[in-house]
Amino acid sequence: MLKTHTCGELRKTHCQQEATLAGWVAVRRDHGGLIFLDLRDRFGVTQVTVDSAAAPDAHAAANAVRAEYVVRVCGVVQERPPGFENAALDTGDVELAATEVEILNPSLTPPFYIREEADETEETLRLKYRYLDLRRPNMMRNLMLRHELVRFIRNYLSDRAFIEVETPYLLKSTPEGARDFVVPSRLQPGRFYALLQSPQQLKQLLMVAGLERYFQIARCFRDEDFRADRQPEFSQLDLEMSFVDRRDVQALIEDMLIRMTEAHTAKRIQKIPFPVLTYQDCMERYGTDRPDLRFGLELFDATDAFADCAFQVFRNAVEQGGRVKGLVYPGGCELSRKDIDALTERIKPGGAKGLAWIGLREAITSPQDASSAHAVRSPIARFLSAQELAALAAVSGAQPGDLLLLVADQADVVAASLSLLRSAVAHRAGLIDPDLFAYCWVIDFPLLERDADSGRWSAVHHPFTSALDEDWPLLDADPGAARAQAYDVVLNGWELAGGSIRIHDRQRQMALFRCLDLTAAQIQAEFGHLLEAFQYGAPPHGGIAMGLDRMAALFADSDNIRDVMAFPKTAAGSDLMVDAPSPLEDDKLMELGIEVTAALP
Ligand code: AMO
Ligand code: AMP
Repeated sequence: MLKTHTCGELRKTHCQQEATLAGWVAVRRDHGGLIFLDLRDRFGVTQVTVDSAAAPDAHAAANAVRAEYVVRVCGVVQERPPGFENAALDTGDVELAATEVEILNPSLTPPFYIREEADETEETLRLKYRYLDLRRPNMMRNLMLRHELVRFIRNYLSDRAFIEVETPYLLKSTPEGARDFVVPSRLQPGRFYALLQSPQQLKQLLMVAGLERYFQIARCFRDEDFRADRQPEFSQLDLEMSFVDRRDVQALIEDMLIRMTEAHTAKRIQKIPFPVLTYQDCMERYGTDRPDLRFGLELFDATDAFADCAFQVFRNAVEQGGRVKGLVYPGGCELSRKDIDALTERIKPGGAKGLAWIGLREAITSPQDASSAHAVRSPIARFLSAQELAALAAVSGAQPGDLLLLVADQADVVAASLSLLRSAVAHRAGLIDPDLFAYCWVIDFPLLERDADSGRWSAVHHPFTSALDEDWPLLDADPGAARAQAYDVVLNGWELAGGSIRIHDRQRQMALFRCLDLTAAQIQAEFGHLLEAFQYGAPPHGGIAMGLDRMAALFADSDNIRDVMAFPKTAAGSDLMVDAPSPLEDDKLMELGIEVTAALP
């Protein structure tokens, strides 16, 4: 090795010993006869002193050094003079008095400062020079954390008789609700592979093979619209087990998550065992199937109170089969118009056309209380009767000083808008404990959903998910009412993992495919292999997949999965460092038998 120690290693116990360090110059400070170099490597930072009197050659070399030069320093470890210790550094009690400084490689001036926080640096620049961005200690820590999580998972599952099996990425479309990335075949022009959206069918076939307990850290490829928690390629801990029911899979994952959280974060888990919520319950209480349970702000339903309301917005919504629901902003009664307008803006993406608000100034326990002119503060107060206000106070549980916020619309718009509102209010009112991990399970999802435009049914999870045993008969009678044996792990409002008990019976699988309006020929072409396999002794099985990027982001306290990926893509699906995607040369296109008709921008 070119070094004897890392830059995070030296302590007082090393004093008077010789040491050689090598790394990048984070900071160089020139005090004339004395030059200070903060030398950084993956493991930390050590201060180097270069004295012109004691080591003139080293001093001359250090003179030429600039930020991000790669240097090697030999010297003697010394205690720092009293008062010059740096408590922020693990190595802050000592410094390396250089006897020799060697420049291993110079560096251009980097396009941005390489330090802990990158807040002021534009992300496009960070992505273009990702190798410099990754040099920042917090990015380095994120990658190390991710490695530790993967190591934990591998050990945990290996200790429990799971075996890791690699499955191909180049295969055939397997539906997870996104578009496929396709790869043309040169050997068979005109034919294409699809990059796997997940190893779903392969892991099921491994169960037919008799593996019983499989896992894989699998890369998945999905051509879908990006968000902070989505990337076109991402990693899953993918897992499958035979001879299990929902609770077996849940028990395993829950235990693993608890241990991982305890081992790799300082977070407090809100509730153990994790709360289990049904989909229905989630939608009613939180307006979403991935509720953030770090705070309350549960929704209340005031639809019944406003059936004959003089406020047209409410009455219309009820008449058209919609809902009037809301939440209580604790202590928000006197919020300014400006703040309320800002909250209104936040819910617009949910589809709401407005946000009605009523500040509760006095306790209302009866219509008499509500008839007081001072009882409420609201632009719509004059449309609301004393009975309605009293009913609203009762159903919401609001106390004097609180603000009631209401949305009236069709149920899905109300849910989406109020879910956004919950999170906006929680942030604004400071209701989020940053040290809390609120895990929960969401179960009993609908099996199928109907596409509004085409009227066709599609699988909510994926078409290999089994219905609840008692709901199979509904597949013919009322497909939308059938519930799935599916389960998600939600953490702080993020969908962390999703899985299900699968169909292992050929007839049932056929029945489900038929429900999706697939023709016999389509079923054969897309899923013939699975149906065939089910004829050779498919065991009952189920599993789950956990988004590794999301997990690492949450564990690293980051709100974007890009922060825990070495080389992520932008929202437009580009890699700015290597400039991908890029056009293909004509001869390569020819070889693949492909003609490009889209005009290049
Ligand atoms: P699902 O599609 O729910 O299930 O994916 C499982 C988990 O993968 C993560 N995830 C993503 N992470 C980053 N970027 C994306 N674009 C992205 N899409 C999904 C999420 C999600 O919870 N085969 C099934 C699993 C099973 O049934 O066993 C599947 O892939 O954290
Ligand atoms: P308007 O009748 O448009 O002047 O709206 C009066 C109040 O009702 C305003 O505070 C609006 O934000 C609110 N509002 C409008 N549409 C809705 C809706 N669909 N749900 C709840 N409040 C609404």
